[in-house]
Amino acid sequence: MPDTRTVRDYIRTIVDFPHEGILFRDVTTLFADPRGFRIAVDQLLHPSAGLRIDKVAGLEARGFIVGGAMAHQLSVGFVPIRKKGKLPGATISEAYQLEYGEAVMELHDDAIEPGERVLLVDDLLATGGTASAGINLLERLGAEVVGCAFIIDLPELGGRKVLEAKGMEVHALCA
Ligand code: PRP
Ligand code: ADE
Repeated sequence: MPDTRTVRDYIRTIVDFPHEGILFRDVTTLFADPRGFRIAVDQLLHPSAGLRIDKVAGLEARGFIVGGAMAHQLSVGFVPIRKKGKLPGATISEAYQLEYGEAVMELHDDAIEPGERVLLVDDLLATGGTASAGINLLERLGAEVVGCAFIIDLPELGGRKVLEAKGMEVHALCA
């Protein structure tokens, strides 16, 4: 019998995490499964087949896991976009709103050469605040963000519209 499970089938939902009322989409169960992780990474790469990509940028924290695997598959470098205070070198920063709070993202100021074509990756798109901060950081260093790839899009939170309004190509594997 062929295995017909989709990426969505490997993701579980935790009720009331990290706050009451939040349905937290937990991708650790996807990452822990060898087939699930492979199909997720392969599907995240599909839309960029044939495109020139110079770097993959991953958003902390789960964007590091998929982004690292994607960069390895593409044989390109990986750049982390991190929460405030985590990167050791000189950084640029952007504040943003979350579904449940406020935060600041940072990028090393020498992480990107002007004109580099960068694919931005994260596990989940909710309000789009995190990804927008990432796009702003990359563009401030002169990157061309060629696409944004997510495992999950929560369409009711409007992130896709926010990113598309910034002219982004947005790809998500499931809702
Ligand atoms: C989650 C998720 C995205 C972000 C999406 O991370 O991994 O990065 O929220 O939300 P948004 O579209 O509304 O900005 P979280 O902020 O929970 O941080 P973590 O990765 O450090 O757990
Ligand atoms: N980030 C923002 N909202 C989220 C959710 N519902 N599940 C997982 N990560 C999130």
